[in-house]
Amino acid sequence: MTDVAVRNAAVALSGVAKEFGTGDTKTLALADIDLELPYGELVLLVGPSGCGKTTLISVVAGLLDATRGQTEVLGQNLTRMGGARKVRFRGDNIGFVFQQYNLLPALTAAENACVPLLIAGWSRAKAVAKARELLTAVGLGNRLDSYPNQLSGGQQQRVAIARALVHEPRLLVCDEPTAALDAASGRTVMELIRKVAVQPDRAVIVVTHDSRVYDFGDRIVSMADGRIERIETKNSPGVRAEH
Ligand SMILES: Nc1ncnc2c1ncn2[C@@H]1O[C@H](COP(=O)(O)OP(=O)(O)OP(=O)(O)O)[C@@H](O)[C@H]1O
Ligand SMILES: [Mg+2]
Repeated sequence: MTDVAVRNAAVALSGVAKEFGTGDTKTLALADIDLELPYGELVLLVGPSGCGKTTLISVVAGLLDATRGQTEVLGQNLTRMGGARKVRFRGDNIGFVFQQYNLLPALTAAENACVPLLIAGWSRAKAVAKARELLTAVGLGNRLDSYPNQLSGGQQQRVAIARALVHEPRLLVCDEPTAALDAASGRTVMELIRKVAVQPDRAVIVVTHDSRVYDFGDRIVSMADGRIERIETKNSPGVRAEH
């Protein structure tokens, strides 16, 4: 991989493979993935259940180590980055919306949403104010003091989205962010994600099965069986991946 490619890509994967388990239970979740994603775009990642979408974005976000290959994110080589530095890099640069939300049950919506700012050293008052602003933008201004078990699935999902956006990450990675949302809430969330996270020096990856989200994507990456099958952009539809 050349330096030029790394500088121009928000995400650059080269020969990335991920195996789970050993022996008879071994699963090849990612099979030698080569993928470059530019800055300034919202990329949709689609494909059937079990094809490797969550695994791929977990590797990109530095939450999971690949078995083989090189992972470059925001110009940094995650493959060579040590544990403590990777935790700091993630905290500073990456927002992640998990498929299962992963909210902290003992914290209110506002407290959950401000966690990334508290970790970054913001004062509690400033962090809560910023979290309130985002929760209001996703339609939860009246549920700031509710605990996760007092919120519906779609409300919890929106708290998770506010938490991922609150520190204005340079790379935002969302796993099915609209799965539990009605049409209007889904649109509000996608509009907010585009407004906050699609910038010339930022990038967004959204895993989705929701065809209503397709209009918000600049590029659609289709996966099957741990491989990239196809990449379509708004300008050049239908580029088949080589493998
Ligand atoms: N921690 C794990 N241990 C063992 N196998 C795993 C683990 N995580 C994922 N897998 C396997 O890796 C493959 C890819 O899983 P992954 O969760 O990435 O799929 P996905 O595309 O996100 O599916 P879905 O659309 O259902 O969320 C699957 O075969 C899955 O069983
Ligand atoms: Mg998944």
